[in-house]
Amino acid sequence: MRQQIRPLVAGNWKMNGLGPSLSEIALIAEGLSDHQHRLDALICPPATLLAAASAKTAGTALAIGAQDCSTETHGAYTGDVSAAMVVDSGGSAVIVGHSERRQGRGETSADVKRKAERAVEAGLQAIICIGETEQEMLDGRTEEVLLRQLQESVPAGSQAVAVVIAYEPVWAIGTGRTPSIDNIAKLHAFIRRSVIDLLGDEGRKLRLLYGGSVKADNAAEIAAIEDVNGALVGGASLKSGDFLGIIKAF
Ligand code: PGA
Repeated sequence: MRQQIRPLVAGNWKMNGLGPSLSEIALIAEGLSDHQHRLDALICPPATLLAAASAKTAGTALAIGAQDCSTETHGAYTGDVSAAMVVDSGGSAVIVGHSERRQGRGETSADVKRKAERAVEAGLQAIICIGETEQEMLDGRTEEVLLRQLQESVPAGSQAVAVVIAYEPVWAIGTGRTPSIDNIAKLHAFIRRSVIDLLGDEGRKLRLLYGGSVKADNAAEIAAIEDVNGALVGGASLKSGDFLGIIKAF
């Protein structure tokens, strides 16, 4: 039987946002009040804004999270931010293994798994990103790549309350291109079967987000796909009007 899974719409601000952008976060929190009975929403601003964004959204349903965390708990790791520091700043979630870190910063799935473990130990929800490159897609290797990333990045025994999977085709991020609705449906069904294989019954409850060029005008058809339980949104999360349009669609 299909599980009723509460959607999560998450925004990744990447390296965008200074103090004045907090007003956009306040507008998102305000607009969310009409929808909070049926979904969860999260904004992941840059680390420099975590504490201020958490303060700004206190008492609202909008959660605040980080875009990355360290594989380590503390110590001599200049520039890194630990999962406990994210919690200390008021964050409740963290994105790990985004392709801009896997591809751009050489992170391996083993690193991603360690980050997810640190996140969950600290009490954060870990949003683990997976996704194939354009070449892997063209070579017909998408399912093989996704399965390997899941096997190597998702900690054993992960619980649905603590772990979320975001499927983001690398070639769809920031490009305005998305897979067809049929392909998103096929790959999310594949990811669902794979997480059930990995985690047993818990895999039926895990939230599977789609990410990559989600906008207010394509969100409704993506939201209607079985096994799409939310979205991870980059560019369209920076403006409250755009992001609230996506929230409404879910
Ligand atoms: P995009 O980014 O929505 O701008 O394509 C998605 C992401 O990187 O999570």
